[in-house]
Amino acid sequence: MTADDLIAAANAACTEALAGLAGITTLEELRALEARALSKKGTLTELRAGLGKLASADDKRTAGQALHAAVATVTAAVEEREQQLLVATRDAQLATERVDLTEIAARPRRGHTHIVTQAWERLEDVFVGLGFQVAEGPEVESDWYNFEALNMPSTHPARGEFDTMFVDYGEPGTVLLRTHTSPVQIRVMESQPPPIYMVMPGRVFRRDTPDATHMPVFHQIEGLVVDRGITLADLAGTIEAFTKAFFGSEFTSRLRPSYFPFTEPSAEFDIRTPNGSWLELGGCGMVHPNVLRAVNLDPEEWSGFAFGFGIDRMAKERHGVADLRDMYSNDIRFLSQF
Ligand code: PHE
Repeated sequence: MTADDLIAAANAACTEALAGLAGITTLEELRALEARALSKKGTLTELRAGLGKLASADDKRTAGQALHAAVATVTAAVEEREQQLLVATRDAQLATERVDLTEIAARPRRGHTHIVTQAWERLEDVFVGLGFQVAEGPEVESDWYNFEALNMPSTHPARGEFDTMFVDYGEPGTVLLRTHTSPVQIRVMESQPPPIYMVMPGRVFRRDTPDATHMPVFHQIEGLVVDRGITLADLAGTIEAFTKAFFGSEFTSRLRPSYFPFTEPSAEFDIRTPNGSWLELGGCGMVHPNVLRAVNLDPEEWSGFAFGFGIDRMAKERHGVADLRDMYSNDIRFLSQF
């Protein structure tokens, strides 16, 4: 064999190996091809033996370089093909073992009611359990229902405390966003005769600047009982029964003398938490005779009690929310905690 023959044979072996590589689809086929070209008995390896038989050192060198280049090219190509096959094998394995998580991950997350709605609904449940019915009234009210019938004539100073938001409708200063749920007391007494055992949850509005404990829009639940022989003891007993049913038996309540135009006597209703601190929840009292008269009920025959307290505050306390405004910023990170 001449040097030229050897070089041609090396190039041919290299070309053949490269062509073979393209058609290979498995690692076993690759190993076989590698062996045919590069193992001890491989074509390129066997050509090496021919080098020693060449006559001149020059021939040995040029043929040696060509052979070396052919081996290097085939080795590199085998390695590259091996990498491709490994990646393809892995992809195929992943595809067959794939678990479709989209069913879990992309399913819409389940929402829930707002904590104020939760408190609202729980309050209704507790009062229904105590024998009350539930009524609702309009959020836009007339002066009569919000003030006048509740023993607050237009000159009454208590009107000023409400920071009323009037609506541009009818006579100026006569239609307003209700400042409390007490007008629903009047509507209920107008619509049905006693005995009345009713709670009235709803949204109320005051011209308050928002801060950690005030919002211009908030929620109250009103209570009204009208029957024969109702006394302050019934009010205190109902408040106490409610406190235990809603907050738990470790809680108690107290009434603290206060003033509201539509109740007489009037009280603030506080609850005592298990750690001994007192929390003011709302107002209450015996329905004022003038209120009964406003709906044509005889105060000599009928008596009753009423209460009203803030729902937002109860939700705030229950969940340990530091700032009321967080409850209304619609931040999903806040809301989804509850
Ligand atoms: N309406 C009163 C308020 O908003 C609360 C209250 C209701 C007081 C019923 C007494 C009786 O402050």
